[in-house]
Amino acid sequence: MNHVHTSTEPVVNLHMRDIGTINYPIIARALQELDNHPELWNEYKWRTNNPQSPHREAEDIWVRYNPVCNFNPAEPSKFNEEHVAEWYPGVDKIPTIKEIVEQVTDTLGATTLGAVLITKVPAGKQIYWHKDAGWHARVHRKFLVLLRGNLEQSFEFENEQMFAEPGDCFEFENEYPHRVINGSQQERISLIICLRDFKKNGTHNVN
Ligand SMILES: [Fe+2]
Repeated sequence: MNHVHTSTEPVVNLHMRDIGTINYPIIARALQELDNHPELWNEYKWRTNNPQSPHREAEDIWVRYNPVCNFNPAEPSKFNEEHVAEWYPGVDKIPTIKEIVEQVTDTLGATTLGAVLITKVPAGKQIYWHKDAGWHARVHRKFLVLLRGNLEQSFEFENEQMFAEPGDCFEFENEYPHRVINGSQQERISLIICLRDFKKNGTHNVN
């Protein structure tokens, strides 16, 4: 557990919550699989393509979401409405990502898995201030596992910062304004896991 969580707010107002740390050998295996398959990046540019997007400097791998066959170019916003998420075929190239997702899902006691997204912020880049809205953001809780990164990068809400190391896992409330700053020389790769329908007896930490 090497993260540093700072805030000028009282604890009750925090928008991030430490969940635990995934063992580094598992993270290293996931990174090796990702590095072996650079073709997976930016297959789907829904979030990053628009020059106005707060995510315009980021790169994505969509691992699980609304099946692509449901995308209608005439009504693109419908794609983000209520749906049953499925794994995308690319997940077969990165099986350790699926293993980590299942570990987090089971340990937290969630019974429904929504989107799974891997997102990269290159060295010196950022994700600009934004709030996430719509059906998917509203009904799921969001968990982040840092895969590659360092303590010179931060995930920030107003008055609150999370500095994390690989394996660190935290929940974040994406309905409030947030941004990601990578002022370091190393790319930052995060695994975002979206969960809902929690069992009452679920545990609270992944380690
Ligand atoms: Fe966001």
